[in-house]
Amino acid sequence: MAIITALLISSLLIFSVPFPANALSLNYYDETCPGAEAIITKAVKEATTSDKKVPAALLRMHFHDCFIRVDNQGCDASILLSSVGKNTAEKDGPPNVSLHAFYVIHDAKKQIEALCPGVVSCADILALAARDSVALSGGPTWDVPKGRKDGRISKASETIQMPAPTFNLSQLQQSFSQRGLSMDDLVALSGGHTLGFAHCSSFRNRIHFFNTTHDIDPSLHPSFAASLKSICPINNKMKNAGTTMDPSSTTFDNTYFKLILQRKSLFSSDQALLTSPKTKDLVSKFASSQKAFSKAFVKSMIKMSSITGGQEVRKDCNMVN
Ligand code: HEM
Ligand SMILES: *[C@@H]1O[C@H](CO)[C@@H](O)[C@H](O)[C@H]1NC(C)=O
Ligand SMILES: *[C@@H]1O[C@H](CO)[C@@H](O)[C@H](O)[C@H]1NC(C)=O
Ligand SMILES: *[C@@H]1O[C@H](CO)[C@@H](O)[C@H](O)[C@H]1NC(C)=O
Repeated sequence: MAIITALLISSLLIFSVPFPANALSLNYYDETCPGAEAIITKAVKEATTSDKKVPAALLRMHFHDCFIRVDNQGCDASILLSSVGKNTAEKDGPPNVSLHAFYVIHDAKKQIEALCPGVVSCADILALAARDSVALSGGPTWDVPKGRKDGRISKASETIQMPAPTFNLSQLQQSFSQRGLSMDDLVALSGGHTLGFAHCSSFRNRIHFFNTTHDIDPSLHPSFAASLKSICPINNKMKNAGTTMDPSSTTFDNTYFKLILQRKSLFSSDQALLTSPKTKDLVSKFASSQKAFSKAFVKSMIKMSSITGGQEVRKDCNMVN
């Protein structure tokens, strides 16, 4: 009986946790590869010197890595895998328009492999590079818990599990809670939109045929909506048309929250943060305190980047071992 119960419990565990979380710690590579973090920081810095768009790209790449797949392999560097044979990988999936700068991770990995082969996971390199990207942009810095393993599965068909910019608050809440993240995490992490660029396709729903009674989303500031319409006309043919999300600076700061209050944020999913009293209060708090935002962002980043479930340390971030 005890054996049967034990078998039952263990099989239940196996089914409910198909990819057990990796045990993370701050000193994970202290003995095995103490030089890794400095290599990553240098790689991010050098890449940013020649391309100012790198930090935004790496922060978003890490977010996508952690979020694709609700069954929680989480931050497992699946976003870095190349398509092989008939399998189209995540990075070649539909919402990939702004994913770029993969080379920064591959460069860092090559240098780290030369120093300590087979030790440092691609998922850890990406988590550290995201941290460095925020710090390098003038935002907060923090110690990243390490020990993530890399996953062996990457499917373009699963990128539809990403939250969409057209989502309302209840859809966003659901998407975050499926990954063990709260409404507080949602508001704080959305502050990542202080960096980077959005293409017209990501906000066109708000400026053309919004609904049957309004052509433009009335929650958009009118003159801001007009400027978006001129950047993104209905018959827009420019593939790369769009705008930076925080036009005032490339600094990682709390301007994103000020823009939401001014009704000048780009996505429905940004504006949606004003549609519940709890999230609205947080937006106001972060808009008036850079310090409160930084503190909350760090806490939620550590939480998001601890969603793990990979199985190996890849030798080459492009392909499984
Ligand atoms: C809450 C749900 C989220 C939605 C619906 C969302 C959606 C989007 C969309 C549509 C874009 C623009 C893509 C394009 O048009 O090129 C974007 C860009 C970006 N997102 Fe998010 N995002 C979310 C959360 C996050 C989080 C949690 C982070 C990081 C902490 C983040 C960081 C970024 C960054 C840095 C960019 C700019 C990328 C670049 O310029 O290369 N986003 N996001
Ligand atoms: C995005 O996906 C398309 C196919 O959907 C692919 O051709 C393209 O290479 C991908 N872009 C990146 C940056 O991976
Ligand atoms: C959010 O969107 C979903 C799907 O379109 C819809 O079912 C739901 O009623 C919406 N919620 C709110 C509060 O508007
Ligand atoms: C269109 O959107 C506005 C603002 O959200 C809303 O007040 C209006 O009722 C909507 N119209 C329809 C037909 O849904």
